[in-house]
Amino acid sequence: MSAAPKSVAIIGANLAGGWAADTLRQKGFEGEIILIGEEPDPPYERPPLSKDLLLHPDEMPKTLFLHDLDYYAQQRIELRLGVRASRIDLRGKRVELADGGHVNADRIMLCTGGAARSLPVPGADLPQVHCLRSLADSRAIAAGLAPGKSVVVVGGGVIGLEVAASAARKGCAVSVLEAAPALMSRVVTPEIGQFLLQCHRAEGVDIRPGEGIAAILGESGVQAVDTGSGARIDADIVVLGVGIDPADDLARQAGIATDNGIIVDAHCRTSVAEVYAAGDVANQPNPYLGGRVRLENVQNAQNQGAAAAEAILGSTTAFEELPYFWTDQFDLNVQAAGDTRHAEQAITRGALESHAFSVFYLTQGKVQGVLTVNQPKDMAHGRRMIMRHLCPDPAALADPDSDLRQIVKAAS
Ligand code: APR
Repeated sequence: MSAAPKSVAIIGANLAGGWAADTLRQKGFEGEIILIGEEPDPPYERPPLSKDLLLHPDEMPKTLFLHDLDYYAQQRIELRLGVRASRIDLRGKRVELADGGHVNADRIMLCTGGAARSLPVPGADLPQVHCLRSLADSRAIAAGLAPGKSVVVVGGGVIGLEVAASAARKGCAVSVLEAAPALMSRVVTPEIGQFLLQCHRAEGVDIRPGEGIAAILGESGVQAVDTGSGARIDADIVVLGVGIDPADDLARQAGIATDNGIIVDAHCRTSVAEVYAAGDVANQPNPYLGGRVRLENVQNAQNQGAAAAEAILGSTTAFEELPYFWTDQFDLNVQAAGDTRHAEQAITRGALESHAFSVFYLTQGKVQGVLTVNQPKDMAHGRRMIMRHLCPDPAALADPDSDLRQIVKAAS
């Protein structure tokens, strides 16, 4: 058993890193906490970047930042912002920084997150071509959205569809190119993808499933996009929402095991003693999905960051996160928990046309996933069913007038 740590360096001043730092202090850690971040800002929430902040870039949501700068000073959390960690020296227990400085620490936590993918197409380096990951990206996109502007979004995933909805709300003409046959296929079934497609089309978004991008045209600025099938679409701005790659280079260079992210155990420990990882970059066994997974969502970033901090302080509780995400697009609030894509049976509660329904996903009678559209109250019951491995009565579940609380009770 190694000695209790006197200092912890957290690489990544994002939600996972911020929650980790906070948790260390809240749980009584008295030593040094150093939070290193490449971006100039302290930890912030990303969900508003593709929604509120695109619609109202001048109104900073009050809850955007996890804490203000004074808080970190009060908590004696040292912020090293605007500087990249360039190397981890495992032997010397030291994090080297791109500005020539370094940080020594008894424990290192990697919360390096993910980097938005770019696309190797001609014109991708034009100034009006953006990814959306950081506050700076969101501000740059917002500056290009105005009534009458033409926006081409590449990728009909979570980010692409949120940007499309925000841009359409701002009066832009929006097209979405999605290479796969269905929308948001990483996280929802083709049926839900089809529902979203219809909703976007009804709002005037030109959605093109099964369509990629061949080139972005323009001399000094974007003028048009050539699609994979040979169509040409006018464009003033292009937003790439084609997924993220885990930022695991630093770990790999240090000899820490990686495979689609940094490999961690149920206690967020990497393959190297005294080095931990959490957030979008961490690839961890997940009992709800039955294998290793990198969860890319806010709730996991918070909870896993906190769990890694507790593990550093000696907790032996395994971290078991029920996968969950939410998205807002036009008037739709979509939430999903558990595994919604591999179930034997999908039971729909309510009519899709009403834009207020839930779907319960069952395998061998047991609820393994739930998705709600404008029915957030159903989510709490659905989560309970998944976490308690319940086998509720399918007919009752399908009846929108039945009481889900009673259904949970009857199945418990
Ligand atoms: N052309 C068109 N579509 C493409 C291409 C391409 N060349 N390459 C990928 N895509 C599509 C994929 O088929 C997928 O539907 O882009 C979509 C990317 O969707 P996601 O994987 O959901 O990634 P993204 O929307 O970028 O979100 C990235 O940010 O908020 C978080 O939860 C979100 O963690 C996720 C991350």
